[in-house]
Amino acid sequence: MAHTHFSICVLCLIIVVSSSVLMVDSAIGVNWGTISFHRLSPSIVVDLMKANKIQKVKLFDADPNSLTALMGSGIEVMVGIPNEMLGLFSSSSAATDLWVRQNVSRYIGKSGADIRYIAVGNEPFLTSYSGQYQSYVIPALVNLQQSLARANLAGYIKLVVPCNADAYESSLPSQGVFRPELADIMTQLVSFLSNNGSPFVVNIYPFLSLYGNADFPQDYAFFGGTTHSVTDGANVYSNAFDGNLDTLVAALNKIGYGQMPIVIGEVGWPTDGAPNANLSAARAFNQGLIYHVLSNKGTPLRPGVPPMDVYLFGLLDEGAKSILPGNFERHWGIFSFDGQAKYALNLGVGNALLKNAKNVQYLPSRWCIANPSRDLSGVTNHLKIACSAADCTTLNYGGSCNEIGAKGNISYAFNSYYQMQKQNSQSCEFDGLGLITFLNPSVGECRFLVGISDNISSSATPRPNVWTLLFLVFGFLKIMCTM
Ligand SMILES: *[C@@H]1O[C@H](CO)[C@@H](O)[C@H](O)[C@H]1NC(C)=O
Ligand SMILES: *[C@@H]1O[C@H](CO)[C@@H](O)[C@H](O)[C@H]1NC(C)=O
Ligand SMILES: *[C@@H]1O[C@H](CO)[C@@H](O)[C@H](O)[C@H]1NC(C)=O
Ligand SMILES: *[C@@H]1O[C@H](CO)[C@@H](O)[C@H](O)[C@H]1NC(C)=O
Repeated sequence: MAHTHFSICVLCLIIVVSSSVLMVDSAIGVNWGTISFHRLSPSIVVDLMKANKIQKVKLFDADPNSLTALMGSGIEVMVGIPNEMLGLFSSSSAATDLWVRQNVSRYIGKSGADIRYIAVGNEPFLTSYSGQYQSYVIPALVNLQQSLARANLAGYIKLVVPCNADAYESSLPSQGVFRPELADIMTQLVSFLSNNGSPFVVNIYPFLSLYGNADFPQDYAFFGGTTHSVTDGANVYSNAFDGNLDTLVAALNKIGYGQMPIVIGEVGWPTDGAPNANLSAARAFNQGLIYHVLSNKGTPLRPGVPPMDVYLFGLLDEGAKSILPGNFERHWGIFSFDGQAKYALNLGVGNALLKNAKNVQYLPSRWCIANPSRDLSGVTNHLKIACSAADCTTLNYGGSCNEIGAKGNISYAFNSYYQMQKQNSQSCEFDGLGLITFLNPSVGECRFLVGISDNISSSATPRPNVWTLLFLVFGFLKIMCTM
């Protein structure tokens, strides 16, 4: 009897322990990037997240407008430190003290912003940076950790370093290792993270595997089963996401941290600007991913243990991003730049569909197009200039506006520029080749956008702006002088 009793207790203990250590509840968050010509006001974006019950958001900086709008929202926040600041932070604890004060402490508190993580750099070990940030990461982490401790925030806010999946490699998941030149720094990083109770943050992009490799089996990028599963010893992988994640698990295991919690900092699928970037593929990928993660199945190397949190990339399209990676780079949003849902997506938190942004302030409904009564033979230079300033990525091969013809191309470019210039009438001149129209020139899936009026300063900040202050001062002087 006693023996049985004892076993039951042990069993209970095991269940309690394992459920608290292993059974993490995954949450779906979003990346909120702001590199756009048409920025929604931060309070509209926060309302959009709330309407969609999004509980976690990852920023790439510590933009005061975004953080102010997040105050009191209850949304958990990861703020970011850009790579360019790592050099300074690696050498100056005064600089990290100031950063923590200015960008974290002042938002913390009752009805403040719920900052939980600080992302120290963004993919600082990316191969294409040729190691330029590598040596700064650990010293910057050490300085920031001390600054957090001095601000009494070290227990609550965790430092993380979002890494690109190019930090590790292998042809089979179980053989995963960190890149040889990163071996030392990864050991230091992971030990630092582990000592401070931080997870390992990784960005995983099956889309890029497909984009960059014509032989990559298309169905392996998705979650709907594959005719090209990868057999790795006793384990069979049917999707690139699990294969990639387990490669990281194996790499962590090799340096003694096989139990390290993992957060997916970025994952997603773009909808435009490349042949595999379209609405149905993005929907299939993101929906498959969300259901897969929320099913708590985990991966073959971590059965029953899904990633702690998964941040979709991204919330909104960012039409002013660099297109160095490809024309798709401006089209990762689950919402378009103006907060309109691109496709049906169930985030697994109660709403079956995405809800659109409310109270978006558009510019007037008018567009700039190629003047049909003019000879357009001299237009090439205008087109080049318009498209080098504004976004024309949908015109390219695989894009939603690739088949609108030569004249359509010109109109699209003109309009993109005109909206970027906030519909300033001179910006539709183009030596008389442009024409303002009130008829929407959109064709099929090709959308000719109308910009939104940026209203950043008046959005969420209750502080009076400079002009109000000047009026107040002058008003005061006027009263004083007439007295
Ligand atoms: C706070 O963050 C903002 C936005 O990332 C940045 O511009 C600013 O320099 C930071 N403050 C300090 C003291 O580093
Ligand atoms: C969208 O992309 C998927 C995935 O690459 C592809 O199979 C499909 O044919 C594309 N759909 C369209 C309409 O281009
Ligand atoms: C429109 O522009 C795109 C991008 O430059 C190009 O690929 C396409 O061929 C153009 N269409 C016509 C009809 O010129
Ligand atoms: C910007 O915000 C101010 C103050 O809320 C408002 O009066 C103004 O109409 C807004 N402008 C636009 C273009 O939305």
